[in-house]
Parts: sequence; structure tokens; C-alpha cells
Amino acid sequence: MDTEIFPDYQTLSERAADVILHQVRSKPDAMLCLAAGDTPRLTYARLVQLAATEAVDFSKCRFVALDEWIGIPPENEGSCAFFLHKHLFAPLAISPGQSHLFDALSSDLDRECKKMDRAIQQAGGIDLMLVGVGMNGHIGFNEPGARTDSDAYVVTLDETTRRVGQKYFTQETALQYGITLGLKQFLESRMAVLIASGSKKADVMKRVLEDPISTSTPASIIRKHPRGVVMLDRDAASTLQ
Ligand code: F6R
Repeated sequence: MDTEIFPDYQTLSERAADVILHQVRSKPDAMLCLAAGDTPRLTYARLVQLAATEAVDFSKCRFVALDEWIGIPPENEGSCAFFLHKHLFAPLAISPGQSHLFDALSSDLDRECKKMDRAIQQAGGIDLMLVGVGMNGHIGFNEPGARTDSDAYVVTLDETTRRVGQKYFTQETALQYGITLGLKQFLESRMAVLIASGSKKADVMKRVLEDPISTSTPASIIRKHPRGVVMLDRDAASTLQ
């Protein structure tokens, strides 16, 4: 695993966008799994800008969602689906057939999980995963204590995730369960990039990078990834040895 430290959020985001762009150029039909959330916002804005100025063709890429809040419809702006549509799929003109998203309203969530597992298998695996890290060390909705041998699954959200997750919603929203790709799928991806920005992520990133690898801090598992890269800005790296 490599660790890269950048002076600020802007340069971190530029580098993360370059990695995605490089992936798409080297394999136009790549399967990408890109997180929602605040951290990758600028990465995606930069990616959209580069895609236009450098005429990059995204028409053959496949996208797979990392996670979703159970019970939240895609029209709700706090949903991961809304975020991905707004920041990536619409500006990059990604067609519905190119993306695999969790239906968080499904009455058969087990089937939703299997649907995602199958989509990943049929694409020959995930080429690139870009993830953020939760304040409790989660990746996707793999909360502290998550199994490392799981494909997609339904999870009871940790108290921290329920509380911090309110920031994505315009009004107080009940968040109890999530649906997520599993840590097995994270470890099996051909490349995994974790991005973290700001001093609020400094303590968790110290645990991710310097404590023993443990699912009590699920993101620490990136240290076992053969092609894992952790990208931090200086603030997020401020408590590292
Ligand atoms: C979102 C996701 C979450 C976030 C994490 C960090 O799809 O999977 O794990 O990446 O909670 O969120 P932000 O970037 O908002 O701090």
C-alpha cells in the first residue's frame, strides 16, 4: 500500500481525478466503484472538467454503487444514487445501462445484494474503487466489526454513521440500515484508493494507518490491498507519526 500526502484538498482531488482518468484511458470498459459523500465532490468536479477538455470517452465504462441508505429513494438528495447522478452520471452523460445501483426501496434486499454481486462478476471484477472513510473508520457501510469475507450485504448502521449521515439530508432523516458492497469486494478490486481530507479525519486516519490492522477500524484493511493507495491532505495527515 502507498500513502500520498498532498498540501490541500484541491491537489488531493486533482490527483484522485487523474487516477480515475488514467484507469478509463487504459481500459475504456473499466468497472468503477466510486463513493458518494463530501470528500470526493471535488474529485468528481475535476473529473468532469478533464473529461470535457481532454475528450475522454466514458461511454463504455460500467459503474457500480458502493452503498445506499435503506428506505431512501433515489430522488432524495441525501441518497447515494442522487449524489452519483448529480455529480457524475449526468455531467458525464452516463446512460442508465452503464450503472448498477442498489434499489434501497426493494422488498427483497437480499436479491439486491445478489444482483450487485452478479453485476461485478459479469464485468470481470471491479477495476478501481474510490472510497472515503467514515468518522468511525468505515468503508462504504462496512461498520466497525464488519466481516472481511463478505460480498454485498445489508447492515445495521453504527450510531456514528446515523448521526454524521444527517449532513447529507435537508431535514432530520431516520437512518437505520444500509446496503453495501463488502470488504471482500474491496480487497478483490484491482486497485483501491482511499481519500481523506481535513483535520476532522486526522484521528481516524491515524488509526487506519498506524494502529494494528483490524476490522474495529474497517478502513485499515486497505493496508492489505496489493494495490491500495491512501491519499490524504496535510490536515488529514496531521497526527501521523
Ligand atoms: C459514501 C460512503 C461513505 C463515505 C464516508 C465518508 O458512499 O460509502 O463510506 O465515503 O462516510 O463520507 P464523507 O466523504 O462525507 O466524509
